[in-house]
Amino acid sequence: MTIPLTILPVNRELQVAPGTSILQAAHAAGIDITATCGGRGRCTSCRVKFVRGTVPPPTIMDELQLGNDLVREGYRLSCQCRVTEPSAVQVAPPLDEQAFQILGADRRVQDMGRVVIDAGITKQLVKVALPREEHHQTSDLEELLAAIGRGPADVSPELLKQLPATLREAQGEVTVTTFGRSVLAAEPGDTGPMKFGLAVDIGTTSVDTALIELESGERLASVSSLNPQAVFGGDLMSRIAFAQFNPGNLKKLQGRIIGLLNQHITEIVRESGVLSKWIYKVVVVGNTCMHHILLGIDPSYVGLAPYAPVVRHPLVLPARELHLKVHPEARVCLLPIVAGFVGADAVGVALATRIYESPEIRIAVDIGTNGEVLLGSRAHLWACSAPAGPALEGAQIRHGMRAALGAIDRVRIEDDVQVHTIGEAVPVGICGSGIIDALAGMLDAGIIDYTGLIQVEDRDRLPHRLRERVVMRGEERCFILIRQGDAGAPAEIVLTQEDIRQVQLAKGAIASGVAMLQHIAGVPDGQVAELMLAGGFGNYLSIRSALRIGLIPPLPVERIRYVGNAASLGAQLCLVSETERHRAEGIARGIEHVSLATHPDFQEIFVESMNFPRG
Ligand code: FES
Repeated sequence: MTIPLTILPVNRELQVAPGTSILQAAHAAGIDITATCGGRGRCTSCRVKFVRGTVPPPTIMDELQLGNDLVREGYRLSCQCRVTEPSAVQVAPPLDEQAFQILGADRRVQDMGRVVIDAGITKQLVKVALPREEHHQTSDLEELLAAIGRGPADVSPELLKQLPATLREAQGEVTVTTFGRSVLAAEPGDTGPMKFGLAVDIGTTSVDTALIELESGERLASVSSLNPQAVFGGDLMSRIAFAQFNPGNLKKLQGRIIGLLNQHITEIVRESGVLSKWIYKVVVVGNTCMHHILLGIDPSYVGLAPYAPVVRHPLVLPARELHLKVHPEARVCLLPIVAGFVGADAVGVALATRIYESPEIRIAVDIGTNGEVLLGSRAHLWACSAPAGPALEGAQIRHGMRAALGAIDRVRIEDDVQVHTIGEAVPVGICGSGIIDALAGMLDAGIIDYTGLIQVEDRDRLPHRLRERVVMRGEERCFILIRQGDAGAPAEIVLTQEDIRQVQLAKGAIASGVAMLQHIAGVPDGQVAELMLAGGFGNYLSIRSALRIGLIPPLPVERIRYVGNAASLGAQLCLVSETERHRAEGIARGIEHVSLATHPDFQEIFVESMNFPRG
């Protein structure tokens, strides 16, 4: 027996076995419902509203996560709600990020100086002598290799299939593309200047792709979007749990990321006018879990102590094996992994910040859902993972969004609230830099105390414009940043008590990661020459605000620097320079991985780091 379930707005009627959760039924039918916590009833992203049929009684998770008002309006968490009778539900609309222009203000390879461009892709225009004499046997391939002055080389069967026709149609005049020992392409005529590559940073929450001209190192286009795997879980653990749930799920996760990379390629190709067949090299960085999933490798053991990766070596494979829509023989290079959750993205950060050659002790903090901290100098480098969750990237925050058009990216709180939005557009949500600013301002104004509690009971002490913004909504403490209609805002934008808790967990993870590495390396604040903050915050991360909320240790402002998306920059370096790519391996091997959770002092430092510094 099955029960009809209609899902709106896609308006699909599914036949569902009784007792299946709405989320499972939707996912099985290929309908996206975002499940940031992986279906564990710990977020609100999967909420649906009943529009037909009896609304089932709320579960305890519905009441906790959604609150009384939403429950009364017929909202339920689709992961907790089982289908028992015919009904129709409306999926709650997520912020429509697709419509936003994603801003990627960042440093580029050219800004690094001292980088010798040697992408490893060579193109030679040659005249290949076609075999003519029966009694002097040779072959098309031997003639081609002779023309480019090579001995034996790796050549794919696909290239061989096309070689006879290409050589004869072009009367032997072809451009031959090679990478190391491999012949990647033989194209008719002179295509010498057409040499492009992609640098890809696969984050747990966001994915960035940049198109680079391999001769000059110039970045021609870039695109950034949410990682579509987030539908199956916002953090790594929920994604690993999803992959373990059934064997098809790993394929689903892999399909999602490859599908997104192909969308990025289509977009980049359209924007730049570069043909995808001229993209011969792709460098990918990402944390260990993202790396494994891209390759279709089971990440289960990455999620279990002792968190061992399946492979740590750098890998190079043909694009056709991943079904990427670049030249099928293009080489996809994955940077090495350090250990556990400290992945190829950390290696990218080390390369881009040059921390490995620093005479003095520096710290690099890559803020992301699976953040990483590096500490050290040319003498020694330590690294740990700092799993902040997606809050500082705007996810799991009631009105959070990424640094895209219309996101509040700066906030000032004095007698009242002033905000700035990206693109000076109508405010539609708040991104990481805005959240950090808002909390710093709320601390200074006394709207929250050092434990993070919104001071509803004491709001009378506040200037009257601020006082009106501190409210109770049912059981929930909220601070209203934007009222509906302010600066044309289509809806109210608030920070809830739960949002503040999420940020405290995130900043606690990062701050405790830094503190633990300092503790283990025996480096007090006074010995830190520089702290570099990396991440996809856009341009507007306020270092003062980061200091105020205790995201980073209390160093003098002039010793702290925002370095942009360093993981992506590391990938770009390895794309344009084989020297850098080979250097990455040595760096990865030289980093000492520190496992925080097993350290006896960690719990205490973590709990302490969740609080805000007392003004
Ligand atoms: S509560 Fe359902 S996915 Fe998070």
